Amino acid sequence: MLRVGDIDTFYGTSHILHGVSLDVADGELISVLGRNGAGKTTLLRSITGVNPPKAGRIELDGTDITAMASHRRAQLGISYVPQGRLLIPDISVEENIQVALLGKGKSTKIPDFVFEYFPALKSIAGRKAGVLSGGQQQQVAIVRALVQDPKLLLLDEPTEGLQPSIVEDILQMIKRVMRERTCAILLVEQRLEFVRDIAQRFAILDTGRIIAKGSAGELTDDVVKKHLQV
Ligand SMILES: Nc1ncnc2c1ncn2[C@@H]1O[C@H](COP(=O)(O)OP(=O)(O)O)[C@@H](O)[C@H]1O
Ligand SMILES: [Mg+2]
Repeated sequence: MLRVGDIDTFYGTSHILHGVSLDVADGELISVLGRNGAGKTTLLRSITGVNPPKAGRIELDGTDITAMASHRRAQLGISYVPQGRLLIPDISVEENIQVALLGKGKSTKIPDFVFEYFPALKSIAGRKAGVLSGGQQQQVAIVRALVQDPKLLLLDEPTEGLQPSIVEDILQMIKRVMRERTCAILLVEQRLEFVRDIAQRFAILDTGRIIAKGSAGELTDDVVKKHLQV
């Protein structure tokens, strides 16, 4: 469904991604790993159009989206949960979700599935997003993406800085999305056990190049030692 073909992405004159290619199939979860500064976030930003590539091609279900504006990619079904979550801190949780619904041209009624995925939301819906814990903010950020009914969900380090019990909540939430919703996921994640648990495939980025890829079973300790440890 997503085909990233040989893209080169820059920040100004800094050449960050070099000939990156990656395919994501319908309903698949693929995880991108790599050390800090490898270009993982830049890859997601290339796909969302926040920072489009200068060369190469990106297709979504056969449509060339390489140079398409971000909001049009969102309309086609790409939802993005950025690193650091980025909720609007001064408005309520409910309003944060409503902004996402409005962006998609939907009614502002929060769909029922949201409360099944994230039962605690009922009691925190009226609170300002900025006062929530990191784990709650992450769950709201994922909900904001899900209410847009994405075909492709891009998650950038959703467990960064969270405690193990919250990481487990996020893991269960993503598993449920995979089971119950027809959506492919491209997950940037540093936690290996997490990736091994839910990804079907992986790709490792290093200084803007993909240096290894394979099925989750091929993400062996040797591969990790060779490509990911400092
Ligand atoms: N806005 C920016 N302007 C210039 N360079 C940037 C910018 N954002 C990231 N970079 C550089 O691009 C490289 C890749 O960054 P990033 O994609 O954020 O890596 P990762 O997500 O893998 O940690 C790094 O060398 C980083 O310093
Ligand atoms: Mg990053």
